Amino acid sequence: MTTASTQTSRSLAADPLALIDVDHVRFYVGNAKQAAYFYAHTFGFNISQVADLTTGSRDEADYLLTQGNIRLLLTSPLHDRHPAAEEVKLYGDGVKDVAFTVADAEAAYEQALRNGGVSDQEPRVIKDDRGTVTVASIKTYGRVVHTFVSRTGHYDIEQVKRGGSEFMPSFRKIDSPVNEYNKKNPCGLMYVDHLVGNVEEGKMDYWVQWYEDVLGFKMFKHFDDTDISTEYSALMSKVMSSGNNLIKMPINEPAEGKKKSQIQEYLEWHNMTPGVQHLALRTDDELHSVAELRRRGVDFLSLPDTYYELVWDRVNTMLKQHGHEAVKEDHAKIKDLGILVDADDEGYLLQLFTKPLQDRPTLFFEIICRRGSQSFGKGNFKALFEALELEQERRGNL
Ligand code: FE2
Repeated sequence: MTTASTQTSRSLAADPLALIDVDHVRFYVGNAKQAAYFYAHTFGFNISQVADLTTGSRDEADYLLTQGNIRLLLTSPLHDRHPAAEEVKLYGDGVKDVAFTVADAEAAYEQALRNGGVSDQEPRVIKDDRGTVTVASIKTYGRVVHTFVSRTGHYDIEQVKRGGSEFMPSFRKIDSPVNEYNKKNPCGLMYVDHLVGNVEEGKMDYWVQWYEDVLGFKMFKHFDDTDISTEYSALMSKVMSSGNNLIKMPINEPAEGKKKSQIQEYLEWHNMTPGVQHLALRTDDELHSVAELRRRGVDFLSLPDTYYELVWDRVNTMLKQHGHEAVKEDHAKIKDLGILVDADDEGYLLQLFTKPLQDRPTLFFEIICRRGSQSFGKGNFKALFEALELEQERRGNL
């Protein structure tokens, strides 16, 4: 006799779209060799592996950067017929691919197509005598794709994580003095907590439905424009979460305001094409991570000092109401480092946002630490948007 719970675990095991990990996040960049040093020096990523002309890769150069369980793949085209050449021209540097490790990439891809997804690349098996990597991609918003990756033998994700294996057959491990420096001066970034997309006005609900239908994601939290707005600019956001909560993918659209929404500014500098707005990288020690990143020259958004006149009352009152302990990190150090704090019924979080990572006001990073709270810092949005508007004004985009 089969019980309900064994049926559930069987159907979970049989779900070809069950995500095992964020395999990697691929950026298309103008100059991967140089970008690798930027992310290594400023954010503490190791320059771990390369696939380029020296490894027989004649169309693109790829640098694998690693920190904790984060794998960034920086890709530059080696000639003008490579699709990255066109995309870098149109959008500048940014995220191309949010790739998921699955048990069987071909099965995941076929299931996503049956669910209404659109193919970007049909399944391909990359192999040598040590193992295989199978990849297949579907299109999501704008130019972004999701690649399903399944790995066997030497290329198993656990072995790649431990640094024991090459990322794929064409890759070669490299060492760099910056890796040694990073080992002595860790930034403490552990994994991708969430990844946010900006889509056009009126398109948020379409993409929410898409993530439900095609990938089986569920809606996690919901904010509307009364939550997230200042006098001038506004956005609407819904958070989609993968079935196993491996990753959350909020989707933003611009909302009506007196001045230009930050989402609209992004779209205008991104050839009016949706794309990834920010990657939130999780740390277990916000103060250490932010102090180290600041020391390395990371540019963070700064908030007016008045923020700290109000924040402790707001946050600690909320925590007390719900029976949680107050924020344990040193309040004065939080203020010195310019870190933001927010709380909800489950606990609190510490977060901070970088300025754009390239000259266009498009992609940025968030450094986040959760102490029970599973939300996204809603209480900070007003203060944050005022700071963002100041930056937009400096860029002449308000
Ligand atoms: Fe975020």
